[in-house]
Amino acid sequence: MDYKVNAGGCLRGQITVPGDKSISHRVVMLGAIAEGVTEADGLLEGADVLATIAAFRSMGVRIDGPRQGHLRIEGVGLRGLQAPADTIDCGNSGTAMRLLTGLLAGQGFDSSLTGDDSLQRRPMGRVLTPLAQMGAEIEAQDGRAPLHIHGRPLRGIHYDLPVASAQVKSAVLLAGLYATGDTCVREPAPTRDHSERMLQGFGQPLRVDGAQRCLSPGAHLRGQSLRVPGDISSAAFFLLGASIAAKSDLLLEGVGINPTRTGIVEILTRMGARIDLLRLREVGGEPVADLRVRHAPLRGIDIPARLVPLAIDEFPAIFIAAAAADGVTRIHGAEELRVKESDRIAVMAAGLRSLGIVVEELADGAIIHGGALGAGEVASHGDHRIAMAFAMAGLIARGPIHIRDCANVATSFPNFPELARAAGLDLEVQSS
Ligand code: S3P
Repeated sequence: MDYKVNAGGCLRGQITVPGDKSISHRVVMLGAIAEGVTEADGLLEGADVLATIAAFRSMGVRIDGPRQGHLRIEGVGLRGLQAPADTIDCGNSGTAMRLLTGLLAGQGFDSSLTGDDSLQRRPMGRVLTPLAQMGAEIEAQDGRAPLHIHGRPLRGIHYDLPVASAQVKSAVLLAGLYATGDTCVREPAPTRDHSERMLQGFGQPLRVDGAQRCLSPGAHLRGQSLRVPGDISSAAFFLLGASIAAKSDLLLEGVGINPTRTGIVEILTRMGARIDLLRLREVGGEPVADLRVRHAPLRGIDIPARLVPLAIDEFPAIFIAAAAADGVTRIHGAEELRVKESDRIAVMAAGLRSLGIVVEELADGAIIHGGALGAGEVASHGDHRIAMAFAMAGLIARGPIHIRDCANVATSFPNFPELARAAGLDLEVQSS
């Protein structure tokens, strides 16, 4: 499936983006291993989260929904999962695969995990290394999926993460629920802390000391009722589009603004964007606000390295903002982008160049020279966020942009075309 975006227009009105993907995965996982019923509203019904739901169904967990964002999970307790009859298919989802690997390593049964071509290319060694130190026995294909997990008793470890990764941190903490002794992780830079917040919300105490988080197993997780906030990573495309398109004035309702996720707001604001955080409140243990974004001229900046992990999924949008900005934007310290759903440095650089933008590719980032975006064709390489970022570029391009291979937008933002059109983007969905 392809997108054709006709040039021009602006984004106006009020929209609600779907539920947060990271939080939605974690609700399903913790709800499944908690005791009692968990009910969630506002859950993301994207393919990635549906893969996590299917995984727990295959391990004997009764899950009703999702229906209009509502999900009901009958938790089976920490030791209540059953051996899945088949290989668990994580689809395109790195979060599903890495967190499940941690959660399954200490079970009393074996399991296998696989995923699509993109996921089978992504590094899993980063979770296998600490899990092996805990006593896990997991076979991989040269550090990649498919994974075969032989459930084993685990022991707690103190692990210093070599990469700033919330998935690795979460995988080790989830394995720690099944280990003997304490499990501690220390991260080199702050990453999203949804696992920590939600573990505590479900009744698992966690000791946070600077960059270190420790848990002692033995607590009972209890089912919860909670609302999932809107995904700031999905809102990011609208923050981008409304910032770059003249006459835009858009309100994004109920977006999660957890400080480990708001790097995009800080980066765009440093570039000159006009974003207001309104009606600050707390939803499901997470800070939430309505975001009002109005058009403003952007200028190129040097992106501080400390903001990279706090905006790690937003770089496709940031590349487009940089292309639309006056002057040069430099991105460093972002080598993790090379192992996302696609190599986002290479794919964004190639796409922008095909629209006439000068981009210097670096091993750990890029130097982007702001300029006029021409019409053209862009390969998304099946990467949802690359497809959505280039769709927004259409607002300021000099002619139509064709974006190839956009079906995976459904992994994180199934109603993106409808919502983008409602806000003012002239987007056509075409079969390839
Ligand atoms: C996620 C963590 C990040 C992010 C991904 C979701 C999570 O990955 O890119 O989209 O839910 O924990 P890394 O941990 O690989 O940085």
